[in-house]
Formats: sequence, C-alpha cells, structure tokens
Amino acid sequence: GSDWMLPAHSKLTRGKTLAVVVLDGWGEQIPDQYNAIHVANTPTMDSLKKGAPEHWRSIRAHGPAVGLPTEEDMGNSEVGHNALGAGRIFEQGAKLVDSALATGKLFYGAGFQYIQECFTNGTLHLIGLLSDGGVHSRYDQLQALMKGCTSRGAKKIRLHILTDGRDVLDGTSFTFVEQLEKDLEELRQQGVDASLASGGGRMHVTMDRYENDWNVVKRGWDAQVLGEAPHKFKSGIEALMQLKADNPKFNDQYCPPFVIVDKNGKSAGPIVDGDAVVTFNFRADRMIMLAKALEYANFDKFDRVRVPKIHYAGMLQYDGELKLPSKYLVSPPEIDRTSGEYFAKNRLRTFACSETVKFGHVTFFWNGNRSGLFDSKLETYVEIQSDQGITFNEKPGMKALQIGERARDAILSGKYDQVRVNLPNGDMVGHTGDIKATVVGCEAADKAVKMILDAVKETGGIYLVTADHGNAEDMVKRNPKTGQPLLDKNGKIQILTSHTCAPVPIAIGGPGLAPGVRFRTDLPHGGLANVAATMMNLLGFQAPSDYEPSLIEVVS
Ligand code: 3PG
Ligand code: CO
Repeated sequence: GSDWMLPAHSKLTRGKTLAVVVLDGWGEQIPDQYNAIHVANTPTMDSLKKGAPEHWRSIRAHGPAVGLPTEEDMGNSEVGHNALGAGRIFEQGAKLVDSALATGKLFYGAGFQYIQECFTNGTLHLIGLLSDGGVHSRYDQLQALMKGCTSRGAKKIRLHILTDGRDVLDGTSFTFVEQLEKDLEELRQQGVDASLASGGGRMHVTMDRYENDWNVVKRGWDAQVLGEAPHKFKSGIEALMQLKADNPKFNDQYCPPFVIVDKNGKSAGPIVDGDAVVTFNFRADRMIMLAKALEYANFDKFDRVRVPKIHYAGMLQYDGELKLPSKYLVSPPEIDRTSGEYFAKNRLRTFACSETVKFGHVTFFWNGNRSGLFDSKLETYVEIQSDQGITFNEKPGMKALQIGERARDAILSGKYDQVRVNLPNGDMVGHTGDIKATVVGCEAADKAVKMILDAVKETGGIYLVTADHGNAEDMVKRNPKTGQPLLDKNGKIQILTSHTCAPVPIAIGGPGLAPGVRFRTDLPHGGLANVAATMMNLLGFQAPSDYEPSLIEVVS
C-alpha cells in the first residue's frame, strides 16, 4: 500500500550509495592493554574518531536500549542487529520469557498444552544452554520452567545441557552443573524422576548457526536423541572433572559430547516415541538447526538414524518466515516494518554480505528474524563460507578482507543504494579470549573498513560505520569499582570471553554526505535503534514517524 512509501527528505537527496559497515563486537572502552582494539593498529577507525562530535559519536548497545530486561544485560548480535534493522526497540526474548513466566501465561498457551500431552506416559526432555548469560538462555528461567512443568504433571524429566564459557566466564560450567544437580535432587525428593542425560560444549555440540557445520548438530543429536557419545559418566560433575583432567586444554565452549549412564551402562535419557522436547533457549540463531532436525520429516543434513515421534516446542518460535518450530511456549517479538522491507517497497537496491558465522546477522536478524529476501530483484545477499572446525584465534583475519572486497565491488558496480556488511573479527576472535589473536583480528577488520571507505570515496558515496555491541575492547573481567582486572584463585587475570555493556562508535562521512549534515546533540542517550532512521535520511528519505529518531540533522 501507499503507506509503505517513504516521503522525500526535505534537505537530503537520494541517488548516492550508502555503505553500512557493522563491526561485530567493537565497543568503546578504557584504552589499556586489555583493550584489543586500542592495542591494535587501526588507522582507519582512528581517523573516523577524529570526526567527533559532528561525524563520530558513541551510542548505546546494551540493556533496555536494545529491548533487554536490565542495564546489567550486555548487548548481543541478535538484539543489536534487530534494533539496527528495525529502527525501534522491541521487548526481546529474554524479557518476553521473563514476563510469560511471571504471569504464568507460558503455561496456558497451545505450545505448553502440546508438550503437556506427553507428561502422563512420556519423558520431558529439556535441551539448551546452561548459563545465566542472558544472551541465549537464563538459568533462572530454566528453573522456573522445570518447576512449572512438574507442578503441572511432568513425572520424568531429562536435561540435555550445553556448557557455555562464551557469554559467561570460562570454567563456570562447574558451578552451573552443581546448581543443576542440586535442583534435580530437590525434584527427586518431590517424587519426580529428574536427572541429567547428556551434555557438551556449545561450540562443539548442537549450537552451530547458519548451517556452518552440521557435524556440530549431529554430535548433539547422537547424545541427546540416540543416547550415544564417546564419553560416558555417572554424573555431570564427574563428566566435567574427568574431561578436564584428561585434557589440559579443556574449556566450557568446546567440551566434548557425553552421556550420563546408569550402573549397567545404559544411557539415562535417549529421546523416544511419546516424549516431549523443549529447547529452552530463547535466542534463535543457534537453535534453528536443531529445530529443523527435530521437526522436519524430510531432512538430509545428516543421518538421524532414529526419528522419534515427539511433541516438540521451542521456548520461542525461532524463524517467523519458516514458522519454525511450529509449536512454542512464548510468542517471539513481532518485529515488523523493518528498514529492509521499507527499502524493498521503495525500490531501493540492497547488497548484504558477511561470512557464514555472521551472515544471518546482516540478513536474518537485520530483517527481524526473517529468513529470505523481501524482493529478489532488488536484493543480493552474499555469504562467504567461514572456515569450519577451527577456533577463530587460529585464523583471526577470518574472511574480513574477502567481505571488504565483495562490498567494494558492489559499491563500484553502482548497482546498489545500500551496501551492508558485518565484519566479524572483534566478536568471533574476542570470544576465544585470546588477546593477541583478537588484536590481529581487529587489524584485519580495520583494513576491510578501509577497502570499503576507499570505494565510497571513489564513487562519491556515503558511509555509516558502527558496531552491534562490545567485545574486543575489553578482554578481562574487571572490578566494577576500580576498573582493575580481577584475579582468579590462582592469581591469574580472569579473561573475559563475553560481550560487554560498552557503547559502540558510529561514524558518518564520504564525499556524498551533504554539507551541513552532523550528529544532533539532543540525543545523548541515542542507541542502535536510532540508526535505521539515520540511514533513511542519508538515503534521501524521511523515516516512518514511529521509528526512533534519526541521529543526524542538517544545518545550513
Ligand atoms: C554467540 O552466539 O556466539 C554468543 O553467545 C553471542 O555472540 P553474538 O551475539 O555476537 O552472535
Ligand atoms: Co558475540
């Protein structure tokens, strides 16, 4: 309809290519030796900063500014790219699950009823990330879910856990497993047959994304569904202790798959006909592949061997376009009328690119957790295959330069109004906790930014460079009062593998930027959700009135 048509901006004209660069995991923080971005040689990003305050500033990327429950919630790529693409702040999964649990609504919906049908004769299996990171899941939500299920008739519960160490400190899996064993013991005392059935590290088992490596999901399937894994233990704590003792390089993210067995060696909880399964992560990207394996009748990504007839529900529906999974406990945020959809309706041409591990960030998340294109005639999405089976500190440059090249070519082609990329290094290498490698990664990302800005310069275009949340700018856990790095019990500095609550930079420029365009000074609390309206202005349009306000003004 005509309400999709964006009115022309009163002062800015269309016709110039806008390059939008999102540096993943690139925040603004104290410039010390644990700030990998500060240590890195990043001449391009440094030069942009000199444009402050008119053409460079920082914006919020965490907590309520991106729809998360509290100021203590660090940002993440899902909520960050959602906000960037949609131009408004939506209450996100973490918050929606909190309220559905608080009101009890979660237990009265069709999704819960569906799994409840199996409570009398079947086992309830809960699969997800065991952590309080608040990025993919939260332990207190799992506790409330277990409680709610048992008080509503679940008699047998099996837990299939994925250890974290990526959104929380490495090594904390022990604490979470201890807590879980305690909570399961309590349920057993109430007469519920509750126990741990399988486990594995999130990056090695189950939680792959964007179909980078189906082997990861297969490892999980074998342990969770078939009850088979190379390692068998009597308890979760025994599993972690033994695996750590056997391998000096053991870490939570890459813990090998294991199953819990009884004294006869029989696995505690394979998934069989008549069982109910809930994947309790609220975040989509790393649950979609498992959801497909659990739900699709036709499936050829790996040999499932046995496909149990189950009632499966996701904590949320993970993909609005695919309607996957079809049953879910909490309705996802309805992220509608995204900038991508407006651009397609206004016949603007878009090019989007990243490598596999971040590809869905600039497409799926950007478009409001919607897979596919709005209009194949107007949009080109390019995915560069990520390296598989490595940790990214082994190759910290990742595919940054290839992404830069593809973006450069797209800009030089003159075929696109918007050329959008995600540069993954600060985040993906930052998550390994390897400071030296993260420095190298940041330098690669900076080089890719330069390639893109050079192409913008050559074609008379405009650029907008920003980030989705912090990560590489702080690689240590700090004392919140003094800012000093915290030491662990062995006197070693505690490495921070997770994201942060830091603000992120945003810079605008290029020969196509009209004179007089500058950042407004009346939006000191501006955040990622203000970027979409800013992009629309830079492309020559007014933003829809319910979008968060644009960060720029035009002075004459
Ligand atoms: C992950 O999924 O890799 C982390 O939990 C969060 O990282 P991202 O939000 O940058 O993808
Ligand atoms: Co990250």
